[in-house]
Formats: sequence, C-alpha cells, structure tokens
Amino acid sequence: MKVLVLHGPNLNLFGTREKSIYGSATLCDINDGLEKIAKELSIDISCLQSNSESVLIDEIHKAGAEKIDGLLINPAALGHTSIALRDAILAVALPCVEVHASNIYAREEFRHKTYLSDIAIGVITGFGAESYYLGLRALVKSLSDRKKASA
Ligand code: DQA
Repeated sequence: MKVLVLHGPNLNLFGTREKSIYGSATLCDINDGLEKIAKELSIDISCLQSNSESVLIDEIHKAGAEKIDGLLINPAALGHTSIALRDAILAVALPCVEVHASNIYAREEFRHKTYLSDIAIGVITGFGAESYYLGLRALVKSLSDRKKASA
C-alpha cells in the first residue's frame, strides 16, 4: 500500500511557529514519526510540504496517475480557501484523511469550515503531531477494509 502525505503552506515552520498553538514538533519530527508508523504497518509513504497551491495540486494529479492508494493531508490554510484543492482530490478520486495539528473548531470562526472535510474519509484535529499519526493509522485501516470488502 502506498500513501502520499501532503503538508500545506507554512507547515515547514512547525516547531518555531506559534508554538502555543502548534506545539514544538518540527515537520521533520512529524515525518520521522510517520515513517516509523509506515514501517510498522508495512506500507510505503512519501511526504511533501509546499507553500504553493499548484505544487500540491500537481502532486495530487501525479498520485492519481501513479495509483497511489490514499492521501493524508494537512491542507493548512488552503483547507479553508481552496476549491481547487478539493476539485483535484475529487478529480483523481483519491481517498483522503484530513488532519490539523490545532483544534480548528476551538479557533477563529473562519477556520471552522474546510473544503475537504466532507469529501475526506475523516478528519482529525487538535492533537498536535499525534493528529498525523492517528490519521495515518485510520487511513490505512480504512483503505485495507475497503480492499477486503471489494475482494
Ligand atoms: C492548521 C490549521 C489551519 O487553520 C492553519 O491555517 C494552519 C495549520 C493546523 O494544522 O492546525 O496553517 O492546518
């Protein structure tokens, strides 16, 4: 099983950015943690962060063409604004889990809606780096359940 992990704008600054909200784990720490879980679950992951909407969309198109099984995505602020990101995921029918380090529902109202939440298998928000780890495990479980159901 192959999973693409995408991190949206400003997430390269995890570890230094608004630590009281996002915690002190760096993006590198988070990717290392995800790699460990991937090994444990015997799956392949590749992780990419970009501050550019178009790069993220191109990666989603590529994942569709390469028949990647699923997407773990922290869209960051693009989740609240980008219909294009939503359309890209729908266009390639990539099953996804959306994650956020902070609890978006406990913050400003403009963060309460995301354009991905209703097309995602599920959303995990508010557990810091752990949101990603829970998200990866949940995505893999859901993908393998789907594979079994269609076998
Ligand atoms: C975030 C939450 C978003 O509202 C914000 O724009 C981010 C990070 C999170 O991980 O908590 O950049 O996605």
